[in-house]
Amino acid sequence: METGWYPVALAEGLERGTSTGTRLFGRELVVWRDSAGASHVWEDRCPHRGMRLSFGFVRDNHIACLYHGWQYDTAAQCRYIPAHPDLAVPGTIRVATYPSIERLGIVWAWNELDSAAPQEIELAERAAVTPVRSLYVDASAAKVFDALVLAECPPLKNAGGATQRSRTDALVSFKNGTDEILVAVQPLSDVEAALHIVIAGSPDIHGSDSQKRVSAWGEALRRDVEGTPQARELRHEVAP
Ligand code: FES
Repeated sequence: METGWYPVALAEGLERGTSTGTRLFGRELVVWRDSAGASHVWEDRCPHRGMRLSFGFVRDNHIACLYHGWQYDTAAQCRYIPAHPDLAVPGTIRVATYPSIERLGIVWAWNELDSAAPQEIELAERAAVTPVRSLYVDASAAKVFDALVLAECPPLKNAGGATQRSRTDALVSFKNGTDEILVAVQPLSDVEAALHIVIAGSPDIHGSDSQKRVSAWGEALRRDVEGTPQARELRHEVAP
């Protein structure tokens, strides 16, 4: 497991006042957005009895655990315990957090808990992006990358000539003419990955036609990756 920035959700899919659970290298994460619009990525574990915070609910700028209702503020500090409403909650009761940032219409997390100083994320922002979809793949992130670096990008509005691909540790960019498709790869575990796909450019340019075409392309890519003998072997290894 390399230390670095990894995608954990499409930003648009995470509405204000909602939370979702996901995984990164097998570890459980809660991704939530407060009422002011800021996103947060934390360990998905309530410090009280370990309930998943992704099962809880967001109220204003707090996320509350479903089990006994302990509430945590945006700094992950417990602020309220319903069974002891007058208690000044000790500062030691807090959730472990991952540094996070939104870039390219995707929420990214630095995969080191309570890290005070992550490296800058080295991804140039685009003026606008059109979200397409997140896709779950029954294969390792390495296998997904192997397929992505050979894939062609589907023609969109302004395609022309050969596809140019570039890759960072967690992202592949496909450029064709002035079209650009960005695919971020989230390693869920050793044998599962998630793709978060966006198109560079505003939804005014890339309407539902482009979104549908890229969505179908992602689906075909997923089938391709899962259909290879290596993917079948991996599924075999994890079968009970
Ligand atoms: S387990 Fe979360 S409040 Fe008790």
